[in-house]
Amino acid sequence: MKELSGKVAVITGGGSGLGREFALCCARRGMKLVLADVDEQGMAETVRLAEQAQPGIETATLRVDVSKLEQVEALAGLAKERFGAAHVIFNNAGVSCGGPLWEHTAADWQWVLGVNLYGVAWGIKAFVPMLLEQGEGHIVNTASAAGWVNAPGGGIYNASKHAVVALSETLVFDLKDAGADNIGVTVLSPAYFPTAIVDAARNRPAELAETAPMTEARRQREERIRYAVQHGRIPAADIAEMTLQAVERDQFYVFPHKKIKALIRARAEAAERETAAFDTLAGR
Ligand SMILES: NC(=O)c1ccc[n+]([C@@H]2O[C@H](COP(=O)([O-])OP(=O)(O)OC[C@H]3O[C@@H](n4cnc5c(N)ncnc54)[C@H](O)[C@@H]3O)[C@@H](O)[C@H]2O)c1
Repeated sequence: MKELSGKVAVITGGGSGLGREFALCCARRGMKLVLADVDEQGMAETVRLAEQAQPGIETATLRVDVSKLEQVEALAGLAKERFGAAHVIFNNAGVSCGGPLWEHTAADWQWVLGVNLYGVAWGIKAFVPMLLEQGEGHIVNTASAAGWVNAPGGGIYNASKHAVVALSETLVFDLKDAGADNIGVTVLSPAYFPTAIVDAARNRPAELAETAPMTEARRQREERIRYAVQHGRIPAADIAEMTLQAVERDQFYVFPHKKIKALIRARAEAAERETAAFDTLAGR
């Protein structure tokens, strides 16, 4: 979509980190905002910052758990009722939970796949029919470098983000089959950047609280990830701006961290050799 001014942005995970920066980029472009999150205080702060960036901006917020289809459908209903449309849909809410694969509880799987995979699936299911009816729109799915290469200790997260890349690539051709030339798709795959994702458990539902015991090895790995996130060199604001520019150019892939593309090439070479699993940390 070349011209975003006056259009409606819907942003899940709009109460923190990248979702908040998407909101501010959209606000500066003169878009209306529909924010969804389980964190109502976080959304209120995003609205405050958006009003500061763009006085008079029109906004709506809804407490939504994206893992629940009926709540994401209610979000689509809100956008339609309040603004008559939804144009750029950011399926962005995400959580992570570390540990060796065999130690994860059923609740760990349900929580992370619920938000990261089903959240995106329900965003597509609830909003694409509206975009088809309008004859225009754009879906932005927040994946990750973990959608391409697999660091240890993040098995559920890796699986969820590979699924987001798969859904996004499939969506392009499903839309093409449907003759929907005017609906774009972008999949964003950043490496670590500073946000509150390392404290994702702050918004974990009580009914899915049961998690694996904290071992010393897991604690050390989580500390390394916390350090990598906090010291990420590209700020969330820059990643959001690159993504908005991709929407304006109708660009599909966004890799803010160029080293990820080198890792993907190295992984393809490992697949070519067939002998051993690609070691993401070693890059070979
Ligand atoms: N920060 C990184 O290093 C990094 C790297 C690659 C990809 N990502 C992805 O970026 C996206 C945004 O995360 P972030 O880094 O800004 O983290 P963040 O924790 O700052 O923001 C995530 C937001 O999602 C919300 N959320 C959590 N569960 C939810 C649910 N069930 N329903 C609705 N909202 C929910 C949280 O309340 C929070 O506001 C995620 O998809 C994440 O996987 C982050």
